Amino acid sequence: MSCAQESGIRPSAFGVLRLPRTIVVGAQQRFAVADIAAELGRSVLVCTDPRLAVSDELEGLVDSLRRRGLAVTVYGETQAELPTPGIMACIEQLQGREIDVIIGFGGGSCMDMAKVVAVLLTHGGEPGDYYGEFAVPGPVKPVIALPTTAGTGSEATAIAVVSDPALGMKMGISSPHIIPHAAVCDPELTYTCPAPLTAATGADTLVHLVESFTAVTREATPSLVSERVLAGKNVLTDSLALEGIRLLGRSLATVYKDPGNTEARADMMLAALYGGIVLSNAGTAAAHAIQYPVGALTHTPHGVGVGLLLPYVVRHNFSAIEAPLAQVAEALGRDIKGLDARQAGIAGVEAIDEILAAIELPATLQDLGVQEDDLDQIAQLSMNSKRLIDNNPVPLDLAAVTSIVRSAYHGDRDIA
Ligand SMILES: NC(=O)c1ccc[n+]([C@@H]2O[C@H](COP(=O)([O-])OP(=O)(O)OC[C@H]3O[C@@H](n4cnc5c(N)ncnc54)[C@H](O)[C@@H]3O)[C@@H](O)[C@H]2O)c1
Repeated sequence: MSCAQESGIRPSAFGVLRLPRTIVVGAQQRFAVADIAAELGRSVLVCTDPRLAVSDELEGLVDSLRRRGLAVTVYGETQAELPTPGIMACIEQLQGREIDVIIGFGGGSCMDMAKVVAVLLTHGGEPGDYYGEFAVPGPVKPVIALPTTAGTGSEATAIAVVSDPALGMKMGISSPHIIPHAAVCDPELTYTCPAPLTAATGADTLVHLVESFTAVTREATPSLVSERVLAGKNVLTDSLALEGIRLLGRSLATVYKDPGNTEARADMMLAALYGGIVLSNAGTAAAHAIQYPVGALTHTPHGVGVGLLLPYVVRHNFSAIEAPLAQVAEALGRDIKGLDARQAGIAGVEAIDEILAAIELPATLQDLGVQEDDLDQIAQLSMNSKRLIDNNPVPLDLAAVTSIVRSAYHGDRDIA
């Protein structure tokens, strides 16, 4: 009998998975992209960033596309965290060119760039026209996503996150139409990630997996999947989330300390893909909602912020997620035999703390430079991410979010 059954919670039979049409995983598989692209058209745009634009890996990819007879344009100016003016600059440069396929080559910023460019080349307008859920009116030009971090999981998600300077915050475009046509996950592309990037992006993966596995369970009405992109915890995402947590548990600390460990790199690439799949279908929650204003205020990486916040969020939610946390404990290698339900759940929280400490993530909002005067505003702005707040396993009002933010500032790790 599973922990969930022991504690009287019936696993939901509802499930939803919206996925790329093709997912390819493995060393050297980046060279599968040329054939995939050739099936989709003759003219390819590659969106990447200034660092990766001059890398041997990009040169090898572009050569393979050209050898396949494809016309290739490289846009190498994607900015980290994807400010919207940079997206419009790309669209302007493309004026008059016919593009059939868009490849996102890089971390989440470049893959999200490819998705938004695909939307704008297909439907026109600007990013702000498509914020929120289901605002993209129809299919878009096909995107092939090649992650170089492990990672955001954007290669498999229905989401693109941009920074909108006019609104002073990050905004999401969330639509099944922007799921990449193909996700090609070659772990060799992550070998050059330095330790801080490995830690930040690995923490992001952990939060995707844990928040999706502990998300709210919704009533499975027939209209659920047409009303929400993020449908809540469900039977199809749960098994992928647990497997992702297991892979990450055995490999994130290893790859942080030993970047040349190719087996651990492969585990993390797979964990990140699973994280993307589950976040895109079940959805993340409070840690992501609170990171958006924290990131805008402190200019710290997304993964660092969500990773830092996760211990405080799972503690706040503890009473509602004791049973899944016990499953997290087991997936992270803890022996929970003989523990009562509360102790088994606490073992999950402690295992999460241990992984984040092993990759030397900052432990409090103070460590990111947040001031005590900022806390109320962070809480208020977090409430704007309604789809994420709604996805939290316990209902959150402003007072509850303020309490999480204050705990994360003071480093208060009591479990309710
Ligand atoms: N669409 C989604 O579903 C989703 C999910 C989570 C996060 N995000 C978004 O993704 C973005 C963050 O993406 P990210 O964390 O992957 O980082 P990133 O794409 O912003 O890249 C950060 C830095 O890492 C460098 N880098 C990337 N790969 C490298 C490699 N192999 N070796 C050396 N350096 C490398 C980049 O050049 C860049 O300087 C944020 O905007 C976040 O909001 C999107």
